[in-house]
This record gives sequence, C-alpha cells and structure tokens, in this order.
Amino acid sequence: MKFPDGFLWGAASAAYQTEGAFREDGKGENIWDVFCRKPGAIRNNDSGNVACCSYQMYERDVRMLKQLGVHAYRFSVSWSRILPEGTGPVNERGLAFYDKLIDLLLANGITPYVTLYHWDLPQALQNQGGWLCRKTADAFAEYAAILAKHFDGRVQNYITLNEPQCFIGLGYGSGIHAPGLTLPIEYQLLCMHHTLLAHGMACRALRSESSGSVRIGVASTGNLCYPAKDTPQRRDAACSATFALREDDWSFTHNWFLDAAVFGRYPESAPEPLAAFAARVPLSDWEVICQPMDFLGINAYNGHEVDEKGRYLPRFIGSPRTAMKWPVTPQVMRYGCLWLYERYKLPLYITENGQSCNDRIFLDGAVHDADRIDFLHRYLLELEQAIQEGVPILGYFHWSLMDNFEWHSGYGERMGLFYTDFHSQRLISKDSAVWYTNLIRQNGIMA
Ligand code: NOJ
Repeated sequence: MKFPDGFLWGAASAAYQTEGAFREDGKGENIWDVFCRKPGAIRNNDSGNVACCSYQMYERDVRMLKQLGVHAYRFSVSWSRILPEGTGPVNERGLAFYDKLIDLLLANGITPYVTLYHWDLPQALQNQGGWLCRKTADAFAEYAAILAKHFDGRVQNYITLNEPQCFIGLGYGSGIHAPGLTLPIEYQLLCMHHTLLAHGMACRALRSESSGSVRIGVASTGNLCYPAKDTPQRRDAACSATFALREDDWSFTHNWFLDAAVFGRYPESAPEPLAAFAARVPLSDWEVICQPMDFLGINAYNGHEVDEKGRYLPRFIGSPRTAMKWPVTPQVMRYGCLWLYERYKLPLYITENGQSCNDRIFLDGAVHDADRIDFLHRYLLELEQAIQEGVPILGYFHWSLMDNFEWHSGYGERMGLFYTDFHSQRLISKDSAVWYTNLIRQNGIMA
C-alpha cells in the first residue's frame, strides 16, 4: 500500500468532546452543556464538562500528535468560548486558548485544520430558535470573520460545518442530540437551509477577512452505497442509490446539503415535501449559499451493499461490527470517494474515519487494539484504490486522536488512537497509534 507523495496524514477531534473547562475563562453556555444536564439524555448522564481536559492539557495533546508524526490536526473552535452570547462582545481569553494551541502546533510543524462548528451552538442563540432562525447564519458569519481576522497568516485551512446532516437530523429530527427537538420535516428543512446560508456567508467572511489565501471546505456525511459485484451497471446502481432521496432519510444524504452548496440548487427529483420546499427558495439565497470551495471533507464510517437495482442487501449473519455495532464496510472508502468526486469534482479529504473498540489496559500495561488496526488497514487499502482510479484524495484524518465524549453515548465508546484514562487524564498510546505512526513514516505499508 503506497500513497502519493505529499499525502496528508492527520488526526481529528472536536471542542466539546475533548476540551472540558465548560465554564472557564468566560466561556458561555452551549447547547451541549444544557442538553447533558437533562436526565437520561446521555448514557450514564455523562457530560463534556471535564472530558479530556484538553483546555488545560493542550500541550499534552500536541506531544501526542508529534509522537504520532501526523502532518495535520483537525480540531474545532468552541463558538461560545469566543462569543459567549453567540454574537456581540468577544471573549479574548477564549481566543488566547486557541492562539496557544495553534502556535504550538505550528512550532511543531503540524498544520491546523480548523472546524468552525462542530455542533456546540451557543445557548443564547438556541434561546432565539437556533438553526430554526435565519439570524443564526448572520451570527455564524460574524464568528467566522472574527476567527479569520484573528488567525490570519496562521490558519490556512477551514472547515465551516461538521456534518450538518447529523446536527440537524439528530438535533432537530430524532432529538437524540442537542438541542433535543423532534420537529416536523418542514422545520428540519428550514434548519438545514439556514446551515447552508451560514456556510455560504462564512465562506465569504473567511475569504474577505484573510489577507492571504485560505482553503475552505465542509465536512459532510451521509449514505454511501457500494456494489456487491463490480460491474459498470452495478456501479451506476450503487452511485444512484447513494444519492437517492427518501422522505424518511433525506437528511442523512450528502447531496441535499452538497448539491446546494456546490451547484446552487437542491437535488432534482426529490419527493414531497422536499421538492415543494426547494421550489420556494429565492434566487438571492442561492447567491449566498453557493460559494467556491477548495475541497470536500468526507466523514466516512460505513455504508450499504446494494444489488443491481440499487436495493440494500441484508447484512449477512455475523457480519463484522464495531463495539458501537456500526457495520465494518471498508468499500465505502473506495466507492464513496468515487461517487462524490464524480458528482462534485472537488478534491477530497477524509476528514473522519475510525472505529469504536472495547479498549482496555491489558495486564502488560499496554492497550492492544488489533480490531482498530485491522479496520484501518482495510479502509486505507480501499482508499488507495480510489486514488488509483484517479480521485484526488489529499489526506486522511483519523477519528479520533484520543478517546473522548461520544455525544449521546457519553464515555461509553472509545475511538481514539490514544487511550484516555479519565481518572488521571493520562493518554496511553494504543497499538494502533504505533501502527499509524509507521504507516505515516512510510507513507503506506511496505510489503
Ligand atoms: C461524527 C462526528 O463528527 C464526531 O463528532 C463523532 O464523534 C464521530 N462521528 C463518531 O461518532
């Protein structure tokens, strides 16, 4: 397995999942702070109040990144640390934290990839309606402008939104994520539309407030289908199934969001009530939403095998699963990248991929995570195939750097290359971290 020269190897994390310090140094409340206080909302009633203490221990995190040998670190900024009320006065102490982190990364030769929004909306904005409210997009642009100006010359790579599909679908549809709403589809569509406006306005702000050039993308997720047998006809069927829109799972598609952001229109041939919603969007919105992007970020974990008609095939009895019971389907790396590149013609990064394991410290004091190594190996082999078929894939970020707060699953799932001992906040390198380091060093695996 060999990756192209200059291929970017990285690790990823997000503010609410790692930072802790939930009311330190003037940080405002966000929707996850509030949601986690709701009894039963999170497994074991866990919260991100302390998480991995990355706010206090960012130097430890950078040491781990250095030890891994990654070229880049994808992390997110907590909006309510910068703007405690979501808009208005800036909290300088919040900015100072990210200054320290970014400067230390740069001093260590690690390129920051900054996600502006990884699900932690300031509660003050939620109190006014959150993503139901168009003004949230204005607030997001204001926040993006502050960051672009402040990090000018130090941050060149931005990801506007992380998985709008999840924070709308799960936050405003099924209600299992903050803010915990279960709204009718028309309102979810409206929320998604506002995230698109936010994305477009942030793209403009990032470019206009940066003196040099910045590279902008979005981290998208959604259904990915792959053919049971590789024939041209079955490829077409799998590609069509990937972009099919159904009323009950339209939010978990790449194309509802990406067609809008990249082409400046919602997908054609959508069922009702999606089509009716799309027809009502004024032209002036599309001018805001559709902004040039430099890359697409893909968060890819698993997908569906389909038959020659694009129908989902049942998972066979005993088929491989992660600890979280997500299917292990490495083919999504190859075919998913093919379909997404074919449709959007933008260079890709895998902005997230990884698996949850039942990791523990063995008697010898080490964390032996053979499952994760096998997962990584299989998924990267498929990624290499996509590159060989001509897809410009520029880099891969493993999710995650360390075990952290896994949203409604709390600390019950471990997805890190480093094992987090949540008592001592010590990070222990898992076997997969060593494996990943060797892979990065060789830019592949030598036979
Ligand atoms: C998607 C999210 O971006 C990330 O926050 C989450 O922890 C992983 N996938 C795993 O569920």
